[in-house]
Amino acid sequence: MALAFVGLLGSLRKGSYNAGLMRAAGELLPPESALSLAPIGDLPHYDADLDAAGAPEPVHRFKAQLRAADAIVIVSPEYNYSVPGFLKNAIDWASRKPDPALDGKPGLIMGASTGAFGAIRMQHHLRQICVAVNVRLLTRPEIAIGRAQERFDAEGRLVDESTRELVRSGLAALSAWTLQLRK
Ligand code: FNR
Repeated sequence: MALAFVGLLGSLRKGSYNAGLMRAAGELLPPESALSLAPIGDLPHYDADLDAAGAPEPVHRFKAQLRAADAIVIVSPEYNYSVPGFLKNAIDWASRKPDPALDGKPGLIMGASTGAFGAIRMQHHLRQICVAVNVRLLTRPEIAIGRAQERFDAEGRLVDESTRELVRSGLAALSAWTLQLRK
């Protein structure tokens, strides 16, 4: 079945391995599904006064994009053992009433790092945040891609076949999970 996924990317860096991982996800989707990236790098810092005044237009567009999606794919590096600040900021905006945009959404996390652990500490912090905002995360497979520099080529393409297979299986599992949650 055709599903629409929205991607949240936790790196702004040109040449980002995690951006390469998100692009690979776009190539490895189940048939007829689509993945669109939500632009989160330019969202303002969360400010309850701004929010009370009606939240800025980019926040409304971001939340509408999330609400329209069948499921969320979050791909991020680990910064100081945790979630990059601007990604947390985007999730904070998305969580706010009266129109929380992540509540009940199926989700999948992936992370890549140049170290050995594949951003796994970030992933566990992100899982905790997802409990707060009620994103219903898939637990398996864990997609923690260490030593990214050995798995991507100079153009940032994910070339390691076993990693591509892992990403493909994660997206297939997310599709099945999304459909299961509808029953
Ligand atoms: C890092 N990096 C990093 N890596 C890691 O495995 N654990 C960590 O806690 C951190 N902390 C950290 C903090 C900050 C501020 C930076 C800039 C980097 C390294 C990080 O994993 C590496 O730079 C990745 O390549 C960043 O991901 P992108 O930008 O390539 O997607």
